[in-house]
Amino acid sequence: MSQALPATRVVAVIGAGAMGAGIAQVAAQAGHTVRLLDAREGAAEQAIANIRKMFGKLADKGRMSAEQAEAAGARLLPAASNQEFADAALVVEAIVENLDVKRKLFAELEDIVAADAILATNTSSISVTAIGAALKRPQQLVGMHFFNPAPLMKLVEVVSGLATDRQVAEIIYDTSVAWGKTPVHAKSTPGFIVNRVARPYYAESLRLAGEGAADIATLDAVLREAGGFRMGPFELMDMIGHDVNFAVTKSVWNAFYNDQRFLPSLMQQDLVDAGFLGRKTGRGFYDYAEGADKPQPQTAAAVAAPAGIVLHGECPLAQALASRLQQAGVAFTQQPAQADGRVAQIGATALYLTDGRTATQRAHALGCNNLVLVDLALDYTQATRLAVAAALQADATAVQAVTGLLQAAGYAVSVLRDVPGLPVMRTVAMLANEAADAVNQGVCDVDSTDVAMQLGVNYPRGPLAWARQVGLEQVRTVLAHLAQFYGEDRYRVSPWIQQQVYAGDVRHG
Ligand code: NAI
Repeated sequence: MSQALPATRVVAVIGAGAMGAGIAQVAAQAGHTVRLLDAREGAAEQAIANIRKMFGKLADKGRMSAEQAEAAGARLLPAASNQEFADAALVVEAIVENLDVKRKLFAELEDIVAADAILATNTSSISVTAIGAALKRPQQLVGMHFFNPAPLMKLVEVVSGLATDRQVAEIIYDTSVAWGKTPVHAKSTPGFIVNRVARPYYAESLRLAGEGAADIATLDAVLREAGGFRMGPFELMDMIGHDVNFAVTKSVWNAFYNDQRFLPSLMQQDLVDAGFLGRKTGRGFYDYAEGADKPQPQTAAAVAAPAGIVLHGECPLAQALASRLQQAGVAFTQQPAQADGRVAQIGATALYLTDGRTATQRAHALGCNNLVLVDLALDYTQATRLAVAAALQADATAVQAVTGLLQAAGYAVSVLRDVPGLPVMRTVAMLANEAADAVNQGVCDVDSTDVAMQLGVNYPRGPLAWARQVGLEQVRTVLAHLAQFYGEDRYRVSPWIQQQVYAGDVRHG
């Protein structure tokens, strides 16, 4: 049975900025009387006027009736001080991101609200445990972490500090459901789920750019068009703002005692130092000035389809190539899978899916000079672009042959420098690795990480579901190869992935 707070109970929201106003809107829409307070004179009144306008627009669009809009608007009441919160069953705090200020606020609130009232913080990065430490009733404090914009984003991370009463977390979980949200439970640890698991999305691309794998427009295009991400990492960082994105990375890195997994990027530090904070300052990785050219991804020029295409086995890429070539009327033959896992052969050129080694390394290991690697795609049947990299030993005909093959199958081709892992595979492997560590450390369960990343940051698939689709063994191999190549602890394989691979081996004999 749902333990959600009944809609008849009063909710207080403190902070009427971007988040507080959104949360107040959600609570009022769910039927609660909402008392909204902001330290800035007139801010609560202004926010309420804006929310009422929003309800009016929703009514115009038919999303709620005019009566409902009117009633929801009337349930929003500005408060002049905390003293008006004695009747609140829940207080949600969305003020400035500062531990001391939040502690002081909650200590004041404790003396005003009823003993069983729930105190919730919308903090993105401060430990719920630490905020609660100064309270008389830390068991009543819980994280209720909404995503921006709160009325639209479905996810709520329900964050339990060390002292949080499980029952309190359950009530907030059920209340989030009643408010039309999809909550997940998380233990208060740096970055909670989303802000931790998302780090590699930015970090791997920053490293790839730093290593000259490709320019930013190309990396963005590959992550979008092959990876299926809504925005590429560079355009996304530009939108978030480099000051904000870099601060989150640094705070997670510091909180994990400088674990190399989270190492901030000098390239991003430079942007912050320069004041190139992204869209909001008119310049970040991209230039947003009027009339500025948007750089285009590097795309290989058209090459004729090669003769003698042989596709091997039935991996998702070989299957997609077969159907796309067939549709395009390009001749090919099919042969059984080869022990070395090649996907296609065109004369002396062999095409393989990346396994975390460079093409050069793999060519050396196999004694095959004309070796080309292709990157992972979310769905090879739908992807519009693929990234490839050729071994340093390969001659020019190898890239030509593979480009011709992939273009014949309808893909735009981006030829990258030969870096290990290639962008999509490397990103997905590291996202899954981070999600796996969060699960391994009891921060959350498997389903919660996948739901959180899909709803909190719009990933096209949850990282662990994606890793299972690629094959956990393949993901482990990619990570192990990256660790070997770079010699960095950053790419160490999560114990959870290792255990799942072994368990799978046992189950499948
Ligand atoms: P904001 O700057 O838009 O709004 C904060 C509001 O709180 C301002 O109106 C300010 O006047 C008011 N305020 C500051 N100190 C106060 C106090 N002691 N008492 C009453 N009001 C006070 O900030 P935003 O973006 O809404 O963030 C608020 C909180 O939500 C922060 O803890 C932030 O980390 C968290 N958060 C922010 C997200 C975002 O994307 N902006 C996403 C999720 C959480």
